Amino acid sequence: ALPPRVRIVEVGPRDGLQNECVALGIDDRLTLIDRLADAGLRDIEAGAFVSPKRVPNMAGSGELMQRLPRRAGVSYPCLVPNDTGLDAALAAGCTDIALFAAVSETFSQRNTACSIAESMDRLSAVARRALDAGVRVRGYLSCVIGCPYEGAVESRKVADMAARLIDMGCYEVSLGDTTGIGTPAQIAALIDTVAAQVAVTRLAGHFHDTWGMGAANVWAALQRGVTVFDASVGGLGGCPFAPGASGNVATEDLVYMLDGAGIETGIDLRALVDTARWISARLDRAPASRVARAFPPT
Ligand code: HMG
Ligand code: MG
Repeated sequence: ALPPRVRIVEVGPRDGLQNECVALGIDDRLTLIDRLADAGLRDIEAGAFVSPKRVPNMAGSGELMQRLPRRAGVSYPCLVPNDTGLDAALAAGCTDIALFAAVSETFSQRNTACSIAESMDRLSAVARRALDAGVRVRGYLSCVIGCPYEGAVESRKVADMAARLIDMGCYEVSLGDTTGIGTPAQIAALIDTVAAQVAVTRLAGHFHDTWGMGAANVWAALQRGVTVFDASVGGLGGCPFAPGASGNVATEDLVYMLDGAGIETGIDLRALVDTARWISARLDRAPASRVARAFPPT
C-alpha cells in the first residue's frame, strides 16, 4: 500500500549548486532557500562545511547559515565531513547536520581522502560531539548501487554501513545512488536487503537522475515502504567527484508524480516550478526537469 504522505528533503541548494558551473553568491543562495520554503519545503539542505578548495561553490556556508532567517518548522541541514566542519557548523548556529560516507573504497578516498574504516571512525566521533551539542544528525551513503570507479556494489555492505550510521545516532540514513545507475528492480532489492537491518522508516532515497530512472526509482522504494526522498529543484547539480553524474531527481517531477497518486507532500507545484525556472535562469541553463518544461507558463 502507498503511504498517505511523503517527506521531501530539498537538496538543490547543496547537492545541486555544489556542481553547477556558475557559482552563486550568498544572496542568491539565500533567496533560493527562501523560495523553497515558500513553496512548502520543510527540510532544505542549505550548505556544506567542506573544504572550499575541493567544493568552491559551497564556500561561505558559514556566512549563509548566519544570515539565513530561520522559519519555524523548517530544518536546514548542512553537510559536515569532520571535526573542522562541525566546529564551523556549530559556530554558524546549525542545529541539523548530515554526515556522509561511501560504500566504495575508491569513492571514499576520492571524496573524503580517507578509507571507509577511517571515515566511519571519524564520523562516529563527529556524531557524538554533535549529539552532545543537541544537533540532529542525518547520514548519507554514496554509491549504494554502483561506484564510478569500482562498478557494482554489494547491497549487504550498504546494509551494514547503514546500520552503523544508525548506531552512531543518525535519525535517518539516505541511500545515495550517486551516479543514477540504478533501476527500479535494483532499488527494490536494495531496500529489502537494507530493511532487514535498519527499520524502513529510517531510510531515505537519494537518487540522481543521470540515467533517467530517478522518479521510477522513487516509486519502487515507495512501494517498499520508504517515505522520505531527497530531490533537487530544477534537477540541479550532481557530485563533482562522480564523473558524468548529473543532478538529483527533480523536486517538481517527484511532486507531480506524488500529487498524481494522491500522496501529500505539502508542496505547491506551481510555486516550485516558478522557483525551478528562476534558479535555472540564474544559472544560465534550462531546467533539467520535464515537469518544469511541460508546466504551463505563469
Ligand atoms: P583533507 O584534504 O583530506 O583533509 O580534507 P585535511 O584535514 O588534511 O585538510 C586539508 C585542508 O582542508 C586544510 O586546509 C584544512 O584546514 C581544510 P589547508 O591547510 O590546505 O589550507 N579543511 C577544511 N576546510 C573547510 N571545512 C572543513 C575542512 N576540513 C579540512 N570541514 C575533507 C578532508 C573531507 C574535508 C575534504 O576531502 C573535503 O572537503 N572533501 C569534499 C567532500 C564533498 O563535499 N563532497 C561532495 C559532497 S558528498 C556528495 O555529494 C554525495 C551525496 O550527495 C550523496 C550521493 O549522492 O551519493 C551526499
Ligand atoms: Mg548526491
